[in-house]
Amino acid sequence: MPTIYPFIYSEAGISSSPRGTVEGRLISLSIKEDTMAQTDLPARGHFPQVKLGKKVPKKAEALLIAAFEGEGGLELPGTDLLGGAALRSTYEALVAVGASGKAGEVTRVPAPAKGGVASIIAVGLGDAEEVDDETLRRAAGQAARSITKVGAVATSLGDFGITPVVEGLILGGYKYSGLRSESAAETTTYTVVAEKSAQEEFDSAKITAESVLIARDLVNTPSNLLYPETYAEFLSAQAAEAGLEVEVLDEKALEKQGFGGIMAVGRGSARPPRLVRLSWKPKKAKRHVALVGKGITFDTGGISLKPGAKMWDMISDMGGSAAMAAAIIAAAKLNLKVGITATLPLAENMPGSDATRPGDVITHYGGITSEVLNTDAEGRLVLADAIARASEDKPDYLIETATLTGAQMVALGERTAGVMGSEEFRDRMAEIGREVGEKAWAMPLLEEHEESVKSASADIRNINAKREGGMEYAGTYLQHFVGEGIEWAHIDVAGPSFNTTGAYGYTPKMGTGVPTRTVIAALREIAESK
Ligand code: BES
Ligand code: ZN
Ligand code: ZN
Repeated sequence: MPTIYPFIYSEAGISSSPRGTVEGRLISLSIKEDTMAQTDLPARGHFPQVKLGKKVPKKAEALLIAAFEGEGGLELPGTDLLGGAALRSTYEALVAVGASGKAGEVTRVPAPAKGGVASIIAVGLGDAEEVDDETLRRAAGQAARSITKVGAVATSLGDFGITPVVEGLILGGYKYSGLRSESAAETTTYTVVAEKSAQEEFDSAKITAESVLIARDLVNTPSNLLYPETYAEFLSAQAAEAGLEVEVLDEKALEKQGFGGIMAVGRGSARPPRLVRLSWKPKKAKRHVALVGKGITFDTGGISLKPGAKMWDMISDMGGSAAMAAAIIAAAKLNLKVGITATLPLAENMPGSDATRPGDVITHYGGITSEVLNTDAEGRLVLADAIARASEDKPDYLIETATLTGAQMVALGERTAGVMGSEEFRDRMAEIGREVGEKAWAMPLLEEHEESVKSASADIRNINAKREGGMEYAGTYLQHFVGEGIEWAHIDVAGPSFNTTGAYGYTPKMGTGVPTRTVIAALREIAESK
Protein backbone atom coordinates (compact mmCIF):
# COMPACT_ATOMS: atom_id res chain seq x y z
CA MET A 1 0.00 0.00 0.00
CA PRO A 2 1.66 3.28 -1.05
CA THR A 3 1.72 6.05 1.51
CA ILE A 4 -0.68 8.89 0.75
CA TYR A 5 0.78 12.30 1.46
CA PRO A 6 -1.48 15.31 1.81
CA PHE A 7 0.80 17.55 -0.22
CA ILE A 8 2.41 17.54 -3.62
CA TYR A 9 6.11 17.01 -3.82
CA SER A 10 6.38 19.31 -6.78
CA GLU A 11 8.65 18.47 -9.70
CA ALA A 12 7.07 20.99 -12.03
CA GLY A 13 6.87 23.80 -9.57
CA ILE A 14 3.12 23.98 -9.03
CA SER A 15 1.96 25.06 -5.64
CA SER A 16 0.13 22.59 -3.53
CA SER A 17 -1.84 22.49 -0.38
CA PRO A 18 -1.80 20.23 2.63
CA ARG A 19 -5.55 20.30 2.56
CA GLY A 20 -5.45 18.79 -0.91
CA THR A 21 -6.59 21.64 -3.15
CA VAL A 22 -4.71 23.37 -5.90
CA GLU A 23 -6.61 26.20 -7.54
CA GLY A 24 -9.86 24.62 -6.51
CA ARG A 25 -9.02 21.13 -7.73
CA LEU A 26 -8.96 18.33 -5.27
CA ILE A 27 -5.81 16.33 -5.43
CA SER A 28 -4.28 13.55 -3.47
CA LEU A 29 -0.89 12.34 -4.36
CA SER A 30 0.47 8.94 -3.72
CA ILE A 31 4.19 8.53 -3.55
CA LYS A 32 5.58 5.09 -4.33
CA GLU A 33 7.41 3.46 -1.46
CA ASP A 34 10.79 3.51 -3.18
CA THR A 35 10.59 7.27 -3.68
CA MET A 36 8.87 7.83 -0.37
CA ALA A 37 9.46 11.22 1.17
CA GLN A 38 11.70 11.20 4.19
CA THR A 39 9.45 12.42 6.94
CA ASP A 40 11.85 12.46 9.84
CA LEU A 41 15.50 13.17 10.47
CA PRO A 42 17.94 10.28 10.95
CA ALA A 43 18.38 11.35 14.57
CA ARG A 44 16.63 13.79 16.91
CA GLY A 45 17.86 15.29 20.15
CA HIS A 46 16.32 14.17 23.43
CA PHE A 47 14.63 16.72 25.65
CA PRO A 48 12.72 16.73 28.92
CA GLN A 49 8.99 16.45 29.14
CA VAL A 50 7.66 19.54 30.89
CA LYS A 51 4.17 19.64 32.41
CA LEU A 52 2.07 22.08 34.36
CA GLY A 53 0.63 20.78 37.64
CA LYS A 54 -1.29 22.18 40.60
CA LYS A 55 0.80 20.24 43.08
CA VAL A 56 3.91 18.12 43.43
CA PRO A 57 3.20 14.76 41.77
CA LYS A 58 3.51 11.65 43.99
CA LYS A 59 6.24 10.19 41.81
CA ALA A 60 8.49 13.28 42.05
CA GLU A 61 11.96 12.34 43.27
CA ALA A 62 13.36 15.84 43.60
CA LEU A 63 12.22 19.40 44.09
CA LEU A 64 13.95 22.14 42.09
CA ILE A 65 13.93 25.48 43.94
CA ALA A 66 15.34 28.98 43.52
CA ALA A 67 18.24 30.29 45.59
CA PHE A 68 19.47 33.89 45.78
CA GLU A 69 22.78 35.45 46.64
CA GLY A 70 22.37 38.14 49.29
CA GLU A 71 24.91 40.33 51.05
CA GLY A 72 25.15 37.78 53.86
CA GLY A 73 25.35 34.80 51.49
CA LEU A 74 22.67 32.30 50.53
CA GLU A 75 19.00 33.33 50.65
CA LEU A 76 16.07 30.99 50.08
CA PRO A 77 12.59 32.26 49.22
CA GLY A 78 9.73 30.58 51.07
CA THR A 79 7.21 29.11 48.62
CA ASP A 80 4.06 27.00 48.80
CA LEU A 81 6.19 23.95 48.10
CA LEU A 82 8.85 24.58 50.73
CA GLY A 83 8.36 26.67 53.86
CA GLY A 84 8.69 26.65 57.64
CA ALA A 85 10.93 24.04 59.26
CA ALA A 86 11.55 22.21 55.98
CA LEU A 87 12.83 25.44 54.40
CA ARG A 88 15.09 26.03 57.38
CA SER A 89 16.66 22.57 57.32
CA THR A 90 17.12 22.81 53.53
CA TYR A 91 18.84 26.15 54.03
CA GLU A 92 21.20 24.61 56.59
CA ALA A 93 22.00 21.66 54.36
CA LEU A 94 22.74 23.97 51.40
CA VAL A 95 24.97 26.24 53.49
CA ALA A 96 26.80 23.19 54.84
CA VAL A 97 27.85 22.17 51.32
CA GLY A 98 28.86 25.73 50.36
CA ALA A 99 25.91 26.90 48.23
CA SER A 100 26.01 30.66 47.66
CA GLY A 101 23.01 31.29 45.38
CA LYS A 102 25.12 32.83 42.64
CA ALA A 103 23.56 32.77 39.20
CA GLY A 104 23.69 29.34 37.59
CA GLU A 105 25.02 27.45 40.62
CA VAL A 106 23.27 24.07 40.99
CA THR A 107 23.42 22.31 44.39
CA ARG A 108 21.69 19.10 45.38
CA VAL A 109 21.07 18.06 48.98
CA PRO A 110 18.96 15.37 50.69
CA ALA A 111 15.41 16.56 51.33
CA PRO A 112 14.02 17.07 54.84
CA ALA A 113 12.17 14.02 56.17
CA LYS A 114 8.49 13.62 55.20
CA GLY A 115 8.82 16.10 52.36
CA GLY A 116 7.67 13.51 49.81
CA VAL A 117 10.81 13.88 47.67
CA ALA A 118 14.30 12.41 48.12
CA SER A 119 16.33 15.49 47.27
CA ILE A 120 16.22 19.22 46.87
CA ILE A 121 18.04 20.86 43.97
CA ALA A 122 18.69 24.57 44.38
CA VAL A 123 19.58 26.72 41.39
CA GLY A 124 21.13 30.12 41.96
CA LEU A 125 19.51 33.25 40.49
CA GLY A 126 22.05 35.72 41.89
CA ASP A 127 20.85 39.01 43.41
CA ALA A 128 17.10 38.76 44.11
CA GLU A 129 16.62 42.41 43.10
CA GLU A 130 18.09 41.84 39.67
CA VAL A 131 16.39 38.70 38.48
CA ASP A 132 15.05 39.07 34.94
CA ASP A 133 13.66 36.59 32.40
CA GLU A 134 17.06 35.76 30.99
CA THR A 135 18.56 35.01 34.43
CA LEU A 136 15.64 32.68 35.09
CA ARG A 137 15.85 31.06 31.65
CA ARG A 138 19.57 30.47 32.02
CA ALA A 139 19.23 29.13 35.58
CA ALA A 140 16.44 26.72 34.57
CA GLY A 141 18.58 25.69 31.60
CA GLN A 142 21.66 25.17 33.74
CA ALA A 143 19.61 23.05 36.16
CA ALA A 144 18.15 20.94 33.34
CA ARG A 145 21.64 20.46 31.92
CA SER A 146 23.04 19.22 35.22
CA ILE A 147 20.10 17.08 36.37
CA THR A 148 20.67 13.54 35.15
CA LYS A 149 19.40 10.19 36.35
CA VAL A 150 16.33 11.71 37.98
CA GLY A 151 13.05 10.53 36.47
CA ALA A 152 10.67 13.15 37.87
CA VAL A 153 11.28 16.62 39.24
CA ALA A 154 8.77 19.15 40.55
CA THR A 155 9.71 22.83 40.61
CA SER A 156 8.61 26.05 42.26
CA LEU A 157 10.61 28.16 39.79
CA GLY A 158 7.35 28.98 37.95
CA ASP A 159 6.60 31.44 40.78
CA PHE A 160 9.17 33.75 39.20
CA GLY A 161 7.94 33.46 35.59
CA ILE A 162 6.33 30.63 33.62
CA THR A 163 7.65 31.35 30.10
CA PRO A 164 11.38 31.63 30.91
CA VAL A 165 11.27 28.58 33.18
CA VAL A 166 9.52 26.36 30.62
CA GLU A 167 11.83 27.59 27.87
CA GLY A 168 14.93 27.18 30.05
CA LEU A 169 14.06 23.62 31.07
CA ILE A 170 13.31 22.46 27.52
CA LEU A 171 16.16 24.31 25.81
CA GLY A 172 18.70 23.46 28.51
CA GLY A 173 17.60 19.83 28.82
CA TYR A 174 18.11 19.19 25.10
CA LYS A 175 20.81 16.64 24.30
CA TYR A 176 21.86 15.61 20.82
CA SER A 177 23.70 12.32 20.58
CA GLY A 178 23.30 11.99 16.82
CA LEU A 179 23.87 8.53 15.43
CA ARG A 180 25.84 7.24 18.40
CA SER A 181 24.88 3.58 18.73
CA GLU A 182 24.84 3.56 22.54
CA SER A 183 22.90 6.84 22.84
CA ALA A 184 21.09 7.05 26.15
CA ALA A 185 17.50 8.18 25.80
CA GLU A 186 16.89 8.86 29.50
CA THR A 187 14.93 12.04 30.00
CA THR A 188 13.51 13.79 33.02
CA THR A 189 9.90 14.88 33.48
CA TYR A 190 9.50 18.29 35.08
CA THR A 191 6.29 19.47 36.69
CA VAL A 192 6.12 23.24 36.91
CA VAL A 193 3.81 23.79 39.88
CA ALA A 194 1.43 26.69 39.22
CA GLU A 195 -2.24 27.64 39.01
CA LYS A 196 -4.39 26.35 36.16
CA SER A 197 -4.67 29.95 34.91
CA ALA A 198 -1.06 29.67 33.73
CA GLN A 199 -2.03 27.00 31.18
CA GLU A 200 -2.17 29.24 28.10
CA GLU A 201 1.18 30.85 28.82
CA PHE A 202 2.63 27.45 29.61
CA ASP A 203 1.40 25.92 26.34
CA SER A 204 2.76 28.71 24.19
CA ALA A 205 6.17 28.64 25.91
CA LYS A 206 6.30 24.89 25.31
CA ILE A 207 5.43 25.24 21.61
CA THR A 208 8.05 27.97 21.24
CA ALA A 209 10.84 26.04 22.97
CA GLU A 210 10.07 22.75 21.24
CA SER A 211 10.11 24.43 17.86
CA VAL A 212 13.60 25.78 18.59
CA LEU A 213 14.63 22.14 18.95
CA ILE A 214 13.51 21.44 15.37
CA ALA A 215 16.00 24.08 14.23
CA ARG A 216 18.75 22.63 16.43
CA ASP A 217 18.13 19.08 15.17
CA LEU A 218 18.30 20.29 11.57
CA VAL A 219 21.56 22.16 12.16
CA ASN A 220 23.11 19.20 13.98
CA THR A 221 22.27 16.68 11.24
CA PRO A 222 25.39 15.97 9.17
CA SER A 223 25.42 17.08 5.56
CA ASN A 224 25.72 13.60 4.05
CA LEU A 225 22.22 13.00 5.46
CA LEU A 226 20.74 16.49 5.20
CA TYR A 227 21.10 17.88 1.68
CA PRO A 228 18.66 19.92 -0.40
CA GLU A 229 16.43 17.01 -1.45
CA THR A 230 16.14 15.35 1.96
CA TYR A 231 15.89 18.72 3.69
CA ALA A 232 13.00 19.74 1.41
CA GLU A 233 11.24 16.42 2.04
CA PHE A 234 11.59 16.76 5.79
CA LEU A 235 10.31 20.34 5.75
CA SER A 236 7.37 19.40 3.52
CA ALA A 237 6.29 16.65 5.87
CA GLN A 238 6.69 18.72 9.06
CA ALA A 239 5.00 21.74 7.55
CA ALA A 240 2.06 19.81 6.13
CA GLU A 241 1.53 18.24 9.54
CA ALA A 242 1.41 21.72 11.09
CA GLY A 243 -1.23 22.83 8.53
CA LEU A 244 0.99 24.90 6.26
CA GLU A 245 0.86 25.05 2.48
CA VAL A 246 3.95 23.62 0.85
CA GLU A 247 5.58 24.32 -2.49
CA VAL A 248 8.91 22.83 -3.54
CA LEU A 249 10.78 23.88 -6.68
CA ASP A 250 13.33 21.39 -7.96
CA GLU A 251 16.34 22.22 -10.15
CA LYS A 252 14.31 22.07 -13.38
CA ALA A 253 11.72 24.49 -12.08
CA LEU A 254 14.43 26.76 -10.63
CA GLU A 255 16.25 26.89 -13.97
CA LYS A 256 13.04 27.52 -15.89
CA GLN A 257 11.88 30.30 -13.60
CA GLY A 258 15.24 32.09 -13.59
CA PHE A 259 16.60 31.47 -10.11
CA GLY A 260 20.15 32.14 -11.31
CA GLY A 261 21.65 32.67 -7.84
CA ILE A 262 20.39 29.40 -6.37
CA MET A 263 21.41 27.50 -9.53
CA ALA A 264 24.88 29.11 -9.57
CA VAL A 265 25.57 27.92 -6.04
CA GLY A 266 24.03 24.46 -6.44
CA ARG A 267 25.62 23.52 -9.76
CA GLY A 268 28.95 22.34 -8.31
CA SER A 269 27.21 19.63 -6.31
CA ALA A 270 25.84 16.24 -7.33
CA ARG A 271 22.94 17.07 -5.03
CA PRO A 272 20.73 19.60 -6.83
CA PRO A 273 19.22 22.66 -5.13
CA ARG A 274 15.64 23.24 -4.03
CA LEU A 275 13.47 26.22 -3.14
CA VAL A 276 10.96 25.48 -0.40
CA ARG A 277 8.02 27.82 0.21
CA LEU A 278 5.86 27.31 3.28
CA SER A 279 2.75 29.41 3.87
CA TRP A 280 0.55 30.02 6.88
CA LYS A 281 -2.71 31.66 5.86
CA PRO A 282 -5.01 32.17 8.81
CA LYS A 283 -8.38 33.84 8.33
CA LYS A 284 -8.62 37.43 9.58
CA ALA A 285 -4.91 38.14 9.11
CA LYS A 286 -4.33 41.87 8.63
CA ARG A 287 -0.63 41.68 7.82
CA HIS A 288 1.67 39.50 5.83
CA VAL A 289 5.25 38.68 6.78
CA ALA A 290 7.83 37.13 4.47
CA LEU A 291 10.51 35.01 6.12
CA VAL A 292 13.69 34.11 4.26
CA GLY A 293 16.53 31.92 5.54
CA LYS A 294 19.86 30.75 4.14
CA GLY A 295 19.88 27.01 3.54
CA ILE A 296 23.40 26.01 2.47
CA THR A 297 23.46 22.38 3.61
CA PHE A 298 27.26 22.43 3.37
CA ASP A 299 29.59 25.26 2.45
CA THR A 300 32.99 24.14 1.16
CA GLY A 301 33.43 27.61 -0.35
CA GLY A 302 33.09 26.13 -3.84
CA ILE A 303 35.99 26.86 -6.23
CA SER A 304 37.08 29.56 -3.75
CA LEU A 305 37.66 26.60 -1.43
CA LYS A 306 37.79 27.10 2.34
CA PRO A 307 40.79 25.82 4.31
CA GLY A 308 40.31 22.34 5.80
CA ALA A 309 40.61 23.27 9.49
CA LYS A 310 37.15 23.66 11.03
CA MET A 311 35.48 23.33 7.63
CA TRP A 312 33.12 20.84 9.25
CA ASP A 313 31.43 23.76 11.07
CA MET A 314 29.80 24.48 7.72
CA ILE A 315 27.23 21.75 8.39
CA SER A 316 25.57 24.66 10.20
CA ASP A 317 25.32 26.91 7.12
CA MET A 318 21.61 26.15 6.80
CA GLY A 319 20.85 27.49 10.30
CA GLY A 320 18.95 30.51 8.97
CA SER A 321 16.51 28.39 6.98
CA ALA A 322 16.10 26.00 9.92
CA ALA A 323 15.19 28.88 12.24
CA MET A 324 12.66 30.27 9.76
CA ALA A 325 11.07 26.85 9.20
CA ALA A 326 10.87 26.37 12.96
CA ALA A 327 9.33 29.83 13.40
CA ILE A 328 6.57 29.37 10.80
CA ILE A 329 5.73 25.93 12.21
CA ALA A 330 5.51 27.49 15.67
CA ALA A 331 3.32 30.33 14.33
CA ALA A 332 0.87 27.75 12.95
CA LYS A 333 0.81 25.80 16.21
CA LEU A 334 0.29 29.05 18.13
CA ASN A 335 -2.44 29.99 15.65
CA LEU A 336 -1.01 33.49 15.20
CA LYS A 337 -3.28 35.81 13.24
CA VAL A 338 -0.72 36.92 10.69
CA GLY A 339 -0.12 35.66 7.15
CA ILE A 340 3.39 34.23 6.74
CA THR A 341 5.35 32.81 3.84
CA ALA A 342 8.79 31.32 4.39
CA THR A 343 11.01 31.21 1.30
CA LEU A 344 13.94 28.88 1.89
CA PRO A 345 16.67 28.45 -0.74
CA LEU A 346 18.51 25.14 -0.22
CA ALA A 347 21.79 24.33 -1.96
CA GLU A 348 25.10 22.59 -1.34
CA ASN A 349 28.15 24.73 -2.17
CA MET A 350 30.64 22.28 -3.70
CA PRO A 351 33.58 22.66 -6.11
CA GLY A 352 32.35 20.08 -8.68
CA SER A 353 33.32 20.16 -12.33
CA ASP A 354 30.27 22.20 -13.27
CA ALA A 355 30.75 24.65 -10.40
CA THR A 356 30.52 28.41 -10.79
CA ARG A 357 33.96 29.99 -11.31
CA PRO A 358 35.24 33.26 -9.85
CA GLY A 359 34.55 35.87 -12.50
CA ASP A 360 31.34 34.27 -13.77
CA VAL A 361 28.37 36.57 -14.28
CA ILE A 362 24.97 35.29 -13.20
CA THR A 363 21.41 36.62 -13.47
CA HIS A 364 19.37 36.66 -10.29
CA TYR A 365 15.65 36.01 -10.08
CA GLY A 366 14.03 39.25 -11.26
CA GLY A 367 16.90 40.18 -13.62
CA ILE A 368 19.72 41.84 -11.61
CA THR A 369 23.10 40.56 -12.85
CA SER A 370 26.02 39.81 -10.55
CA GLU A 371 29.72 39.20 -10.97
CA VAL A 372 30.71 36.29 -8.72
CA LEU A 373 34.22 37.17 -7.62
CA ASN A 374 34.32 34.72 -4.74
CA THR A 375 32.23 31.55 -4.74
CA ASP A 376 32.48 31.40 -0.94
CA ALA A 377 30.23 34.46 -0.72
CA GLU A 378 27.40 32.14 -1.80
CA GLY A 379 24.82 32.92 0.87
CA ARG A 380 24.00 36.32 -0.61
CA LEU A 381 23.56 34.66 -4.04
CA VAL A 382 20.85 32.25 -2.92
CA LEU A 383 19.26 34.83 -0.60
CA ALA A 384 19.08 37.47 -3.34
CA ASP A 385 16.86 35.16 -5.43
CA ALA A 386 14.75 34.23 -2.42
CA ILE A 387 14.31 37.87 -1.29
CA ALA A 388 13.32 38.91 -4.83
CA ARG A 389 10.78 36.06 -4.97
CA ALA A 390 9.43 36.82 -1.49
CA SER A 391 9.08 40.52 -2.39
CA GLU A 392 6.75 39.62 -5.28
CA ASP A 393 4.12 38.69 -2.69
CA LYS A 394 4.21 42.31 -1.45
CA PRO A 395 4.54 41.48 2.24
CA ASP A 396 4.39 44.22 4.88
CA TYR A 397 7.57 42.93 6.51
CA LEU A 398 10.45 40.82 5.29
CA ILE A 399 12.65 39.16 7.90
CA GLU A 400 15.67 37.30 6.64
CA THR A 401 18.35 35.47 8.58
CA ALA A 402 21.59 33.78 7.60
CA THR A 403 24.96 32.46 8.72
CA LEU A 404 26.24 35.00 6.25
CA THR A 405 29.67 36.34 7.16
CA GLY A 406 32.71 35.56 9.27
CA ALA A 407 32.86 39.35 9.61
CA GLN A 408 29.77 39.21 11.87
CA MET A 409 31.89 37.48 14.51
CA VAL A 410 34.79 39.87 14.04
CA ALA A 411 32.42 42.79 14.65
CA LEU A 412 30.15 41.45 17.40
CA GLY A 413 31.63 38.25 18.77
CA GLU A 414 30.17 34.77 18.74
CA ARG A 415 26.98 35.40 20.72
CA THR A 416 25.54 38.62 19.32
CA ALA A 417 23.72 38.76 15.99
CA GLY A 418 24.10 41.76 13.67
CA VAL A 419 20.82 43.26 12.46
CA MET A 420 20.61 45.45 9.36
CA GLY A 421 17.72 46.78 7.26
CA SER A 422 14.99 49.47 7.41
CA GLU A 423 16.03 51.61 10.36
CA GLU A 424 12.99 51.46 12.61
CA PHE A 425 12.21 47.79 12.00
CA ARG A 426 15.89 46.86 12.27
CA ASP A 427 16.09 48.55 15.68
CA ARG A 428 12.93 46.83 16.88
CA MET A 429 14.15 43.40 15.73
CA ALA A 430 17.46 43.87 17.58
CA GLU A 431 15.51 44.92 20.68
CA ILE A 432 13.20 41.90 20.44
CA GLY A 433 16.28 39.69 20.19
CA ARG A 434 17.62 41.11 23.44
CA GLU A 435 14.20 40.83 25.10
CA VAL A 436 13.99 37.09 24.43
CA GLY A 437 17.62 36.39 25.34
CA GLU A 438 18.95 36.08 21.78
CA LYS A 439 21.46 38.93 21.85
CA ALA A 440 21.38 41.20 18.81
CA TRP A 441 22.70 44.60 17.85
CA ALA A 442 21.64 47.02 15.11
CA MET A 443 24.33 47.70 12.50
CA PRO A 444 24.32 50.40 9.79
CA LEU A 445 24.53 49.87 6.05
CA LEU A 446 27.50 51.93 4.87
CA GLU A 447 27.38 54.69 2.24
CA GLU A 448 30.81 53.70 0.84
CA HIS A 449 29.47 50.24 0.04
CA GLU A 450 26.76 51.63 -2.23
CA GLU A 451 29.56 52.55 -4.66
CA SER A 452 31.79 49.53 -4.15
CA VAL A 453 28.97 47.03 -4.80
CA LYS A 454 28.97 48.15 -8.46
CA SER A 455 30.78 45.96 -10.99
CA ALA A 456 32.40 46.63 -14.39
CA SER A 457 30.87 43.52 -15.96
CA ALA A 458 27.50 43.24 -14.18
CA ASP A 459 25.04 45.31 -12.13
CA ILE A 460 26.71 44.33 -8.86
CA ARG A 461 29.57 42.19 -7.53
CA ASN A 462 29.39 39.66 -4.71
CA ILE A 463 32.47 40.74 -2.75
CA ASN A 464 34.12 44.03 -1.88
CA ALA A 465 37.76 44.77 -2.71
CA LYS A 466 38.30 45.52 1.00
CA ARG A 467 37.62 43.30 4.01
CA GLU A 468 36.46 46.16 6.20
CA GLY A 469 32.75 46.08 7.06
CA GLY A 470 32.26 42.64 5.49
CA MET A 471 28.98 42.05 7.33
CA GLU A 472 27.54 45.38 6.21
CA TYR A 473 28.68 44.85 2.61
CA ALA A 474 26.69 41.62 2.49
CA GLY A 475 23.69 43.58 3.83
CA THR A 476 24.08 46.16 1.06
CA TYR A 477 24.17 43.37 -1.54
CA LEU A 478 20.88 41.95 -0.21
CA GLN A 479 19.24 45.40 -0.03
CA HIS A 480 19.14 45.50 -3.85
CA PHE A 481 16.59 42.69 -3.88
CA VAL A 482 14.13 43.96 -1.27
CA GLY A 483 10.92 45.24 -2.86
CA GLU A 484 9.94 48.87 -2.44
CA GLY A 485 7.99 49.82 0.68
CA ILE A 486 8.71 46.58 2.53
CA GLU A 487 9.92 46.88 6.13
CA TRP A 488 13.04 44.77 6.08
CA ALA A 489 15.43 43.19 8.60
CA HIS A 490 18.51 41.08 7.84
CA ILE A 491 19.90 39.13 10.82
CA ASP A 492 23.43 37.76 10.46
CA VAL A 493 23.76 34.83 12.90
CA ALA A 494 27.09 33.32 11.75
CA GLY A 495 28.26 33.19 15.38
CA PRO A 496 25.12 32.86 17.55
CA SER A 497 23.46 30.02 15.60
CA PHE A 498 26.28 27.53 16.16
CA ASN A 499 28.15 27.19 19.45
CA THR A 500 31.65 25.82 18.93
CA THR A 501 32.92 26.73 22.41
CA GLY A 502 30.95 24.97 25.13
CA ALA A 503 27.47 24.75 26.64
CA TYR A 504 26.26 27.51 29.00
CA GLY A 505 22.87 28.33 30.54
CA TYR A 506 20.28 26.86 28.17
CA THR A 507 22.61 27.00 25.15
CA PRO A 508 24.12 23.65 24.09
CA LYS A 509 27.16 23.04 21.97
CA MET A 510 26.54 23.01 18.17
CA GLY A 511 23.11 24.12 16.90
CA THR A 512 21.51 26.73 19.19
CA GLY A 513 18.32 27.43 17.23
CA VAL A 514 19.05 31.19 17.22
CA PRO A 515 17.18 33.34 16.08
CA THR A 516 13.98 31.23 16.15
CA ARG A 517 12.57 32.80 19.33
CA THR A 518 13.28 36.33 18.10
CA VAL A 519 11.33 35.64 14.91
CA ILE A 520 8.42 34.04 16.77
CA ALA A 521 8.27 37.03 19.13
CA ALA A 522 8.28 39.43 16.16
CA LEU A 523 5.50 37.48 14.43
CA ARG A 524 3.48 37.53 17.63
CA GLU A 525 3.96 41.29 17.96
CA ILE A 526 2.94 41.91 14.33
CA ALA A 527 -0.08 39.61 14.71
CA GLU A 528 -1.23 41.53 17.79
CA SER A 529 -0.55 45.03 16.45
CA LYS A 530 -3.46 47.28 15.46
N1 BES B 1 29.03 30.52 5.60
C1 BES B 1 30.04 31.50 5.52
C2 BES B 1 30.05 32.45 6.71
C3 BES B 1 30.40 31.82 8.03
C4 BES B 1 31.72 31.73 8.43
C5 BES B 1 29.41 31.37 8.87
C6 BES B 1 32.04 31.14 9.63
C7 BES B 1 29.73 30.80 10.09
C8 BES B 1 31.04 30.69 10.47
C9 BES B 1 29.88 32.35 4.26
O1 BES B 1 29.32 31.71 3.17
C10 BES B 1 31.24 32.80 3.85
O2 BES B 1 32.06 31.96 3.58
N2 BES B 1 31.45 34.10 3.82
C11 BES B 1 32.71 34.65 3.47
C12 BES B 1 32.45 35.88 2.64
C13 BES B 1 33.68 36.46 2.01
C14 BES B 1 34.20 35.53 0.95
C15 BES B 1 33.34 37.80 1.44
C16 BES B 1 33.46 35.01 4.75
O3 BES B 1 32.82 35.46 5.72
O4 BES B 1 34.66 34.79 4.81
ZN1 ZN C 1 30.72 30.65 1.96
ZN1 ZN D 1 28.03 30.09 3.64
